Amino acid sequence: MPAITSTAPGKIILFGEHAVVYHRPAIAVPVQSLRTRVVITADPLATPGTIHIEAPAINLNSDILDLVPEDHLVLTITNIMKEIGITYIPACNIRISSTIPVAAGLGSGAAASVALIRAFSTFLGKPFPDDLVNKLAFEIEKIHHGTPSGIDNTVITYNMPVYFQYGQPLQKFQIKLPFTILIADTGVPSKTAITVRKVRQGWEQSPEKFENIFDEIAEITNQGKHAIEIGNILALGKLMDQNQILLQAIGVSSAEIGILIDAAKQAGAIGAKLSGGGGGGNIIALVDEESAKNVGKALLEAGAKHVYQNQLRTSH
Ligand code: PMV
Repeated sequence: MPAITSTAPGKIILFGEHAVVYHRPAIAVPVQSLRTRVVITADPLATPGTIHIEAPAINLNSDILDLVPEDHLVLTITNIMKEIGITYIPACNIRISSTIPVAAGLGSGAAASVALIRAFSTFLGKPFPDDLVNKLAFEIEKIHHGTPSGIDNTVITYNMPVYFQYGQPLQKFQIKLPFTILIADTGVPSKTAITVRKVRQGWEQSPEKFENIFDEIAEITNQGKHAIEIGNILALGKLMDQNQILLQAIGVSSAEIGILIDAAKQAGAIGAKLSGGGGGGNIIALVDEESAKNVGKALLEAGAKHVYQNQLRTSH
């Protein structure tokens, strides 16, 4: 049996992170240059049922039986088997490799789930359709942080720019003019669960204040979608700046994020904000052709561990 391979992209959130957990809309786009790859090979010599998993990014090299049952990879596999209704599996080796930095707001967890669900369901002879991949990946997101909005698994499963709101049908949108986003890594790992919890505590203490901020973020997200649809890049940058101020107000920015954003803006970025859970992780900066190089250089000089360039355009 030939090896089964599946890959899934990373993602960035352009507008609306955190507010999306409170059922406001958000916009996310896949990042094709950052990917998780899952390769499954049958191991006919091993005892049936043996699954060996190797995931160097999280220092994992183990038989599945040696992992705790609530481990997210174990759960992904057991959920797939339940869905298909089988208890027997041929022995296999699963290798998960990724160029998506872990705990950096770029969707590494969701990408691993999506690629694993696709590869393993195919390995078992029942490749799952996108809706089922998305549903199972969402279940795993709940383990990463109890109250996920579902945006990460959705943008990564469908692999296209999305306007997402919990409980609403997924909306696609057109990108009138291509635009370039630089993604810069603060190098500070940050777990989404922690910032999501922090926001929850703030919301519990001052519900009215947080609800108002979420409404303002929702308005910015809607204006951002419009700016993308009409190709107003300057407006897009201003809206990113406004979104960042509100993310600061709910306490998910950080000194390192602030330093990179200031460096990007001073070097000519049209707009900049954190992306994802915050508290560390990555910032995104909107640049044009002239400023891209300068901004990239300034970000590295200001301490960014990596800068990735991502061009956004509607694919037909
Ligand atoms: O940090 P990431 O890439 O997992 O982004 C999470 C986005 C949040 O809005 C903060 C949480 C969520 O579930 O939507």
